[in-house]
Amino acid sequence: MSEQREGQRDASDYREGGAGDVPAENERQWQAWALQPRTLVGPRAVDLTTTVHGLELALPVLAAPSAWHGLWHPEAEAETARGVVASGCGLVLSHGSTLPPEEVATAPYLQQLYLSEDRELVLPFVERARAAGAVALVLTVDQLPVPRQQAFRLAASEVPAPRWSAYDTTLAGSVPARGFGPEDVAWLATATSLPVVVKGVLHPDDAVAAVDAGAAGVVVSNHGGRQLAGSITTAEVLPEVVAAVAGRVPVHVDSGIRDATDVVRALALGADSVWLGRPVLRALEAGGADAVAALLRELRDDLAGLLALLGVDTPADLHPGLVRRRVA
Ligand code: FNR
Repeated sequence: MSEQREGQRDASDYREGGAGDVPAENERQWQAWALQPRTLVGPRAVDLTTTVHGLELALPVLAAPSAWHGLWHPEAEAETARGVVASGCGLVLSHGSTLPPEEVATAPYLQQLYLSEDRELVLPFVERARAAGAVALVLTVDQLPVPRQQAFRLAASEVPAPRWSAYDTTLAGSVPARGFGPEDVAWLATATSLPVVVKGVLHPDDAVAAVDAGAAGVVVSNHGGRQLAGSITTAEVLPEVVAAVAGRVPVHVDSGIRDATDVVRALALGADSVWLGRPVLRALEAGGADAVAALLRELRDDLAGLLALLGVDTPADLHPGLVRRRVA
């Protein structure tokens, strides 16, 4: 096998890999929610448009943050962004992006970040993201420097060099945070005027702690099943997190969401938006921006059809009465 082909295999293993069978379980648990439509509710006029933390979207779907798009396309995140924006969805740019935020050119957008042990290191990066058009920060709290649980890890030699310098000081040259508390959320929320959304919540108490500390939103996520082997899935915990947050801030969800039916399930269970990880990266590799846009446009059309069949007009009209946990 040539060196290049081996590299491609490694990149795809990195994308698809996870902790044991959690990625597959994520998908299965969404499918365990059956849709129960209302059929005698008159003609519908479906409108999917939604605002998420200041982003005006054609549908409540965002591309989840994921590192190193240069692995899948020479234009990296700029290519992804073109496809995402063309479809009317939102972009969450990873702190580990191949390109610096200002070269992705998709303002407004949401900027994900990690914190180092030295918290202050991130502040110049926050300013850079704000200048590039970030309207909210997404603080990821579920990735810690513990021995990796996931079966596959990209070899250091495969990691594409980030093409920007802030990365050297805020990520590569720093000691990753060993853990997070509500004080970190409060600190970041005070240190910047941008809203802070906390990503990586699986327990209702953590969601409440994040909101009490000043979070402007939470993302129910198990990182696509890439962190904790044996992890509970987001399809199982979303309803209890939504109940605990009680409408104080938006609740978003990702991990294992694959089609419009899954999006409906998540929205009906109380999510305000749904984030897609691997499907966007697969499309990016398969056909660049055009394939990303085609994937998301198809999702939008399917979603509109599903809402009509369920008997509702808008994503906000979806409610838990339209889904039922299947009996095994
Ligand atoms: C990720 N994810 C991620 N999350 C984050 O906050 N910062 C990051 O840099 C990355 N990087 C990353 C790389 C790759 C290759 C993948 C697949 C995922 C997690 C991502 O944001 C999201 O939580 C999951 O991908 C959602 O699950 P699905 O849709 O991939 O099942």
